[in-house]
Amino acid sequence: MSKKFKSLVAILMMASMLFTLTACSSSPKEEGSDSAAAAKVEQIKEKGKLVLGTSADYPPFEFHKQIDGKDEIVGFDIEIAKEIAKELGVELEIKDMKFDGLLAALQTGKVDVVIAGMNPDEDRRKAVDFSDVYYKEVQSVVTKTDNVDKIKTLDDLKGKKVGVQKGTTMESIAQEKMTESEIKALGKVTDIVLELKNDKVDAIVMEKPVAKAYISANPDIAMTGIELEPEDTGFAVAVKKGNEDLVSSINDVLKKLSDEGKIDQFIADANILMEQE
Ligand code: ARG
Repeated sequence: MSKKFKSLVAILMMASMLFTLTACSSSPKEEGSDSAAAAKVEQIKEKGKLVLGTSADYPPFEFHKQIDGKDEIVGFDIEIAKEIAKELGVELEIKDMKFDGLLAALQTGKVDVVIAGMNPDEDRRKAVDFSDVYYKEVQSVVTKTDNVDKIKTLDDLKGKKVGVQKGTTMESIAQEKMTESEIKALGKVTDIVLELKNDKVDAIVMEKPVAKAYISANPDIAMTGIELEPEDTGFAVAVKKGNEDLVSSINDVLKKLSDEGKIDQFIADANILMEQE
């Protein structure tokens, strides 16, 4: 785990402790108190909307698409969010931000849930709570199509620049496994892909379905044969610590979707949507 990421988690934890302290000293009805946290679902219903935080640079999970001339955020994770909102009987509002700002947005109550292809790893679990896992990811390494023959093993990346999205598990993986490479972390995946296309980095660590999505839109980049051991944590929905009622509603929705084969359907749909012009 990167030092930066650890310190971010530490700051978030401190912020949440302070928040709890303030909440305890005020009247129990105020937002942030234990009873309010336990009644998160009620709060969302009263507001009439579920606010989703995501980083919409991650096809097929979440991405921007022009639909009838309007910019919309779509994808697999968004379909899951819609189902949760439907279950709660509220509207869905989407806030698009950088991935490394998502946990703070949950902590400060700017968003109610985060669905962003996020792995519930140990450090994040200290800062927020997670639903059950709804998807298992695989890591891959992408390079310029012209360089595919030169970049075949981790050794070939020694002394080279490797791009990753800031605050992600890919940043930690790169720091752990590519100790002799220079790691460049940026806020948005779209910017990292541009860096690769412009030869500012030599390779990118990306999750396989996302890599495939960018490759299909950019013929000048391609998948290397480099295999990275899977982290094996999978993707889950994040909520503010203590929102147990919300976690349990989300888990009910996830279970229903999986039992009905909808999860696979959503992935297939998102892939089709991604490829359509
Ligand atoms: N799965 C990785 C993580 O949890 C990366 C997720 C990035 N998501 C995104 N929407 N850009 O760290």
